Amino acid sequence: MALDIVIMAAGKGTRMKSRHPKVLHQLAGRSLLGHVLGTTAQLGEHRCWVITGHGADAVESAIAGTGAVSVRQMPQLGTGHAIQQVVPHLADGGAEGGTTLILNGDVPLIAADTARALAQACGGERLALLTIVLDDATGYGRILRSGDAMGGRVLGIVEHKDASERQREIREVYTGMMAAPTAALKRWVAALKNDNAQGEFYLTDIVAMAVAEGVPVVATHASDDTEVLGVNSPLQLADLERRFQRRQADALLEAGVRLADPARFDLRGTLAAGQDVEIDVGCVFEGAVTLGNEVRIGAHCVIRDAAIGAGAVIHPFTHIEGASVGAGALVGPYARLRPGAVLGEQVHIGNFVEVKNSTLAKGAKANHLAYLGDATVGERVNYGAGSITANYDGANKHRTVIGDDVHIGSNCVLIAPVTIGAGGTVGGGSTISKDTPAGQLSVARGKQVAVAGWTRPVKTKKG
Ligand code: UD1
Ligand code: CA
Repeated sequence: MALDIVIMAAGKGTRMKSRHPKVLHQLAGRSLLGHVLGTTAQLGEHRCWVITGHGADAVESAIAGTGAVSVRQMPQLGTGHAIQQVVPHLADGGAEGGTTLILNGDVPLIAADTARALAQACGGERLALLTIVLDDATGYGRILRSGDAMGGRVLGIVEHKDASERQREIREVYTGMMAAPTAALKRWVAALKNDNAQGEFYLTDIVAMAVAEGVPVVATHASDDTEVLGVNSPLQLADLERRFQRRQADALLEAGVRLADPARFDLRGTLAAGQDVEIDVGCVFEGAVTLGNEVRIGAHCVIRDAAIGAGAVIHPFTHIEGASVGAGALVGPYARLRPGAVLGEQVHIGNFVEVKNSTLAKGAKANHLAYLGDATVGERVNYGAGSITANYDGANKHRTVIGDDVHIGSNCVLIAPVTIGAGGTVGGGSTISKDTPAGQLSVARGKQVAVAGWTRPVKTKKG
């Protein structure tokens, strides 16, 4: 049976107090709308429509390439008016009937199972509403039923602003998500009026129309409120972010990852962790990160798109992006691995060391205050404090090659392109601009002299 999914995303989101469209605000590193599209992608074959209006250009470029098609709603005259814009595009479904599933771009955490159940409850012939019982239902559309009990037949939805005192006591609310028989939906939205408190075309008025026609109306329930919570303000966004992060943290804990504190953990992407992994407080993981067995991550590290090998230890306050760290390596505290940093097994990178687009072979060490950019570093190299590769001549980047077992003293400048021969030593303070021979000591610095008979100046007495 034909399934159309409509995601409403034309609203202004005034309470965000932002220049950016609400549905493009980020939750866990992904836009609110991106979360919904990620969920709909799990719903089997369907066509997906996004209603755009406020910030339409930005929203439309954000959905480019997702397969969803945008339909503009200008101006925005209510949720029923939004659906009026899209109905000409919806599949009628012929004899089989079709289902239209309506979701919200600002309700990001709807679960695929719940959305699927909602579409199935419709089955092309019933009007299915997703409802939830809230302690505080202020602002929501209330579900009217025959008799007071939840078991009564659904008769309609009354918006908060149009509800009587008595109706406002109802705690079962409409979540903003429904599934309707497509052909009937077309008929119902065409008949909507805007004679209500807000002067808007309410999609929710179709419920009473279905009841009047004898079309069955069913309510399905969300498993928990997190999946139906909408984002209207920065406060609600932050609340949902925490709930989402807690859910991810709990899943990792369940899988055996030892988080020092699940309340101080942030994952904005995916984290694949082996056995006996420990993560201290305040870490942020972004993009795709993999951690091997027995990896330990110290407090306050930011790690993005990286692979950390088994047994490696990342000490506190380290920043890693687009890098890989070999098994048993030690990194940090306060280290920075930039894109293209590839550390072999047992490599040591210490405090205030920056590595970019460089490969360090097994056992190489740069323990203090150093820079390695566009370098190929051999096994067991010891790279001294304060040494840097001068890899950029102002126009082009050049490579530095350091052979196995080289010892670079402190405060050296290696002016690339340059090769340091295997087993060689570079004396501290050298500025190396030519290749050095293997196995020898290379020194390039001013010679030390002693000036005999020199005396230190003394202060002249005044007046
Ligand atoms: C709507 C429901 C209400 C429900 C609540 C759940 C109606 C009339 N009311 O109310 O019963 O409890 O959601 O959160 O449907 N939108 C458009 N075009 C418009 C207006 C809205 O695309 O012209 C989009 C918004 O971007 C948003 C969604 O529709 O994604 C809901 O709109 P909103 O104004 O938040 O509806 P509520 O008044 O909260
Ligand atoms: Ca709303």
